[in-house]
Amino acid sequence: VKLGARLQKAADFVGQGAVLADIGTDHAYLPIYLAKQNKISRAFACDVSQGPLEGAKRAIAAAGLAEKITACLGDGLNALPKENNVDTAVLAGMGGATMAEILENARGMAEKIKRLIFQPMNDGARLRRWLAENGWRIIDEELAFDEGRLYEIICAERGSMTIDSDILFEIGPVLKEKKHPLLKEHITALLEKSKKILQGMAESAKARQSERYAAEERRKNELEAELKWL
Ligand SMILES: C[S@@+](CC[C@H](N)C(=O)[O-])C[C@H]1O[C@@H](n2cnc3c(N)ncnc32)[C@H](O)[C@@H]1O
Repeated sequence: VKLGARLQKAADFVGQGAVLADIGTDHAYLPIYLAKQNKISRAFACDVSQGPLEGAKRAIAAAGLAEKITACLGDGLNALPKENNVDTAVLAGMGGATMAEILENARGMAEKIKRLIFQPMNDGARLRRWLAENGWRIIDEELAFDEGRLYEIICAERGSMTIDSDILFEIGPVLKEKKHPLLKEHITALLEKSKKILQGMAESAKARQSERYAAEERRKNELEAELKWL
């Protein structure tokens, strides 16, 4: 099995011997790959929808991994059985706001987990803010180009962190600190998104005068300034 660059970067953050929960597993590619690599000791492949979970069950059985990977139906971390020993959770391919909500809805469970790995499809800033406000520290971040699109991958462990500017929540503190080779492309993509939002809002005189427009304009200017320093 070969994972795409996006899921591969998430897989790389999983430590040897981990007990994994893959939340929003869909096809269960990630736990199946990690089990075949002998990287995990056990996994729970969880999804809130019946359809994807059935697909996951079939794929797990076809790979002969039913002893190692259990498919669980349910919302977020609450799909896990009470006794689970999960030390690592991956949340990939969902929005950043959904990810923050999943953690919020299972506080007791999330606190037992040592490492959280995220690949948000959007709203990375919101997720980073949730982590900072809830006792998590970003220990590493990655970017992956996959089928023409850039994806962020965030790895967090318990601890505290200070992110001292709003724009760093957007960009990712570690991506900036380690001068990731794709940082320029990443900031350019954020900037393009911001410009599109402004363009859309500019069509309405009312929206143009709103505080949201002013805030988006500040964000755009800050992203442009960040690009200049690269
Ligand atoms: C786009 S797929 C991502 C699959 C895989 N993780 C990946 O990154 O390739 C998103 C999956 O998340 C599931 N999902 C959405 N919200 C969820 C929640 N609150 N709890 C568990 N699964 C959820 C959906 O049913 C869907 O199967």
